[in-house]
Amino acid sequence: MIASPVLVPLISPTRADTTVAAVSARGTHVRFADGVEATDLTSGLWNVPFGYGRPEFTSAIAAALAEASYLPLLRRSHPWAERAATALLAVVGDALPHACFRRVLLTTSGGSANDAVMKLLRQRAALLGRPDRRVVVGLSGSYHGLTYGAHALSGDELGQHLYGVDRSGVRHVAHDDPEALESLLRREGRRICGIVVEPVLGSGALPLSAGLLAVLARASQEGMPVVADEVATGFGRTGPFLASSRWPFAPDAVVLSKALTNGALAAAAVVVGERLLAEIDAADAPVIHAETQAGTPAVCAAVLQSLALLPELLGAEGFPRVSTGLDCAVSALSTHPRVRGHSGVGSFRALRIEGLAGADDVLRLVEDIRRRGAVVHPAPDGIQFLPAAVTRDRDLANIPRVISAALDA
Ligand SMILES: Cc1ncc(COP(=O)(O)O)c(C=O)c1O
Repeated sequence: MIASPVLVPLISPTRADTTVAAVSARGTHVRFADGVEATDLTSGLWNVPFGYGRPEFTSAIAAALAEASYLPLLRRSHPWAERAATALLAVVGDALPHACFRRVLLTTSGGSANDAVMKLLRQRAALLGRPDRRVVVGLSGSYHGLTYGAHALSGDELGQHLYGVDRSGVRHVAHDDPEALESLLRREGRRICGIVVEPVLGSGALPLSAGLLAVLARASQEGMPVVADEVATGFGRTGPFLASSRWPFAPDAVVLSKALTNGALAAAAVVVGERLLAEIDAADAPVIHAETQAGTPAVCAAVLQSLALLPELLGAEGFPRVSTGLDCAVSALSTHPRVRGHSGVGSFRALRIEGLAGADDVLRLVEDIRRRGAVVHPAPDGIQFLPAAVTRDRDLANIPRVISAALDA
């Protein structure tokens, strides 16, 4: 039965999603059409770390709309974009002080930002006289978005074949298999223009292994561009502002999106470093990637607001406190007979759960937990917690009780 006029997007081919609409959100709580009011342990989709309904964003956006309701970022810049880009370069520069980040490409989504990354990698290779270096390496099980380029780069199986997504220009290796990456670089290195990785795989909250980071560091040292897709991990989600600031080398570009506007407006940013820009700038080559609604004054005002409030996320009372609360919750839940293990870091965690036969079972469990008062995110074989930095201690302390009750049922 088709009940809704909205073509509700799904991220996997499963259909057993809940049909209960969310009707309002305040702080870290979401109210649903069936009357359930639940603690949101997913901060929207990782992207509302300051909590819902923050007046600072409302007024910053309103002020920008009043001053310039729209200005394009096409062929020329505007002062709001200049200010947002300068602020982003400053904060990324502080996080990665040994690298040189010079410019910011504003887009409307993480997917289109990753498309732009693939374009920059291929354009650089072509300018270096190597147009045959077209292959971009990603990780199996990764997620970079569902625009055609990002869909190809995403290592998870998400209907790429069904939609005719061309994966001939990408290769994937497992996040914990450094030998596979090494052997791919040996075998096909002459065709590879860059590597794009999530520091923590969003699907399953799986951090990159130390071995893989060592191979990436070596490849980077030998001249291979490496890009950190920090759409989910940026803004302190794993502890520091950027998860890649813990890497043994600096990435050549950083992709940011979730948290840029606290979910209020569509925004993503590719913060591009010297190595990716050198040939493009030297040739004064146009980068052909523009989006009508990217980097509008209102978007840029929201980005600036988010950066102004950053100490709220990074300070002791923000994500570090939430991370400690999650340590306790995960450790309490680890004794439950159905919990097989956990992974993740900071405020980005997953629980692996026994007895789930597939995606439909996971979604049924997620729905049961919602009815009991908590919103969690589905993982491949369990559930994920991605709470806002303003989640209250008592809501974090409640996690083991709610999740255990659902697992017992
Ligand atoms: C790491 C990562 N990259 C890219 C994306 C895609 O972002 P968007 O949904 O804005 O296209 C996501 C979204 O979840 C993500 O987690």
